[in-house]
Amino acid sequence: MSQEHFGMKIAVYPGSFDPVTNGHLDIIRRSAKVFDKLIVAVLNNTSKNPLFTVEERTELLQKVTSDLPNVEIDSFRDLLINYMKDKNAHLIVRGLRAVSDFEYELQMASTNQKLDENIETFFMTSTPMYSYLSSSIVKEVARFHGPVGDLVPVEVEKALHGKYARS
Ligand code: PNS
Repeated sequence: MSQEHFGMKIAVYPGSFDPVTNGHLDIIRRSAKVFDKLIVAVLNNTSKNPLFTVEERTELLQKVTSDLPNVEIDSFRDLLINYMKDKNAHLIVRGLRAVSDFEYELQMASTNQKLDENIETFFMTSTPMYSYLSSSIVKEVARFHGPVGDLVPVEVEKALHGKYARS
């Protein structure tokens, strides 16, 4: 019998995580308190031309969540709802920063619910100090050797320095 049949609330937090930021980590820590188990699922998307490979992204996530016993790191391909079926999970967590996130998030949540009526998406508003933060902005700063120590965990800062080493 699945864990959910025993009343366990399993949520999936999907994303690109290229790389994980302090904003993502804030959502992970807070939602790990709400759900019994949180699976952070990295999209293995070849079309997006990511900076970090899926292996690098999952490894970084593993490092920065190692103190959270009910958080599991995984990756998925193709449709999120198919992955969720495999995991027997029905709850999706997404972070909401500003109004600008809303339209895209509404579209995704509505599509996922249309594809599988049992899927529910929960939005967690970001802590205000992270509301401007994104993986793209972090990469932009790191690319030009700006300080990212306040934006990402130290393991990610090191990994970014590795990618953008001065030649
Ligand atoms: O961190 P991101 O890039 O905003 O995350 C987007 C993500 C990975 C959650 C979304 O692109 C996704 O779920 N992709 C998998 C394909 C899918 O299921 N699409 C249908 C929902 S619109």
